[in-house]
Amino acid sequence: MLLVYNRFRISEQAFRTGVVSPRFMFLGVMKRSRKPEPQETIRINRYLSMCGLSSRRKADWLIQNGKVEVNGQIITELGTKINPTLDKVYVDGNQVTRVYDFLYLVMNKPKDTITTLSDERGRKTVMSQVHARQRVYPIGRLDRNTTGVLLLTNDGEFANHLMHPKHEVQKSYRVTCETVVQRQHIEQLRRGIRLQDGETAPAVVHVLPGGKGKEIGIIVHEGRNRQVRRMFEHFGYTVRKLDRVAYGPITTDGLARGKTRPLTKREVQKLKLLTGD
Ligand code: URA
Repeated sequence: MLLVYNRFRISEQAFRTGVVSPRFMFLGVMKRSRKPEPQETIRINRYLSMCGLSSRRKADWLIQNGKVEVNGQIITELGTKINPTLDKVYVDGNQVTRVYDFLYLVMNKPKDTITTLSDERGRKTVMSQVHARQRVYPIGRLDRNTTGVLLLTNDGEFANHLMHPKHEVQKSYRVTCETVVQRQHIEQLRRGIRLQDGETAPAVVHVLPGGKGKEIGIIVHEGRNRQVRRMFEHFGYTVRKLDRVAYGPITTDGLARGKTRPLTKREVQKLKLLTGD
């Protein structure tokens, strides 16, 4: 049975178990981006994200903080344009070059891993689970003990688009609480509640079959810090487990916990469609 949630469908089994019947995975995808024309100029922040270095927002931060040099000169003007074939761009003294082979991965994130590239306190990061031939980084964050779908890429623009709030990309979670979640709270979660950082947008919220009233499926499109946990904690519930079962159309179907696989070409296309690319 498929449950229809707004713009996409998620199998009920995916919500219940997080793992559905294994499906044959197609070959991984490597997108070859278009090579620039010799005379083409582009904004420096766009160029930095094409280098797989960061999102455009982060690129702006790097520029404003004097970390970016073009042909030996520090630039702090956000609108600066460069010619990718002629200009030499450095970030923190290291030359950056455009990435032509983009990599798109999905991980079934295990518990007790953090979604930063490195951790000065020595905690295990998701990067220790990734064995890619190019450096990739997580698209958004999951809490240390949240499990499930985590996308990774070296395509800064793609990541930036997916995370942009205006695209309202839906993320589905299976929440396991210590106690039964009351009907009136489900209703309020659906309508939106007031958290410290503002009102939550209306969400799709369901009691999941077989979960004794303690397992809830919730779909949100906002990406606020610890949002799902905070939504339940708002009513005094303790969240025992939080599993992201889908990011847009991408699920962990057939992917064991802790494992990573390349997205198929079709999956990348579907994600791009969500952001109008
Ligand atoms: N919401 C949370 O509370 N935690 C996550 O890891 C993701 C969404």
